[in-house]
Amino acid sequence: QMVWESGCVVVVMLTPLAENGVRQCYHYWPDEGSNLYHIYEVNLVSEHIWCDDFLVRSFYLKNLQTNETRTVTQFHFLSWYDQGVPSSTRSLLDFRRKVNKCYKGRSCPIIVHCSDGAGRSGTYILIDMVLNKMAKGAKEIDIAATLEHLRDQRPGMVQTKAQFEFALTAVAEEVNAILKALPQ
Ligand SMILES: *[C@@H]1O[C@H](CO)[C@@H](O)[C@H](O)[C@H]1NC(C)=O
Repeated sequence: QMVWESGCVVVVMLTPLAENGVRQCYHYWPDEGSNLYHIYEVNLVSEHIWCDDFLVRSFYLKNLQTNETRTVTQFHFLSWYDQGVPSSTRSLLDFRRKVNKCYKGRSCPIIVHCSDGAGRSGTYILIDMVLNKMAKGAKEIDIAATLEHLRDQRPGMVQTKAQFEFALTAVAEEVNAILKALPQ
């Protein structure tokens, strides 16, 4: 319903469905064919495994009240566990590039979720916000202030020191990549 009401076309999922047998997130899409959720029919159109760390699913949504249909793409990062960090910044940055390439030019919100929407989601959103600011040519980047701004809106965003360090490392890595790509 939130996807529908916000006109969302890109969903970022940062948790596996279960960790050590403990459910992390509701399985809100069909593994094949279609499922009905309230008045929304969700059809799985495709599932593309990009690498060990993430896959991309495409859904066809139908609102049975209006018969309106839409397409939604879900980017699912599989190897980031609760309270932890991804095994490499490279895979997460690669993942983010694919998300933003798909989103490009749109103005609807991207829905980002994990299990509690704070640790992993906060870390991803922090990295994405900082890199987007950089891409827009911000003269000054203050990562701690950006996190504070995020936490004003949702407490607990970025839960561990390791997650904050991961965000800093990911930003540094991207800056390095930009520097390397500059004409000599
Ligand atoms: C939606 O489609 C069904 C089946 O074709 C039709 O019976 C119904 O009247 C349609 N509803 C609207 C709101 O167009």
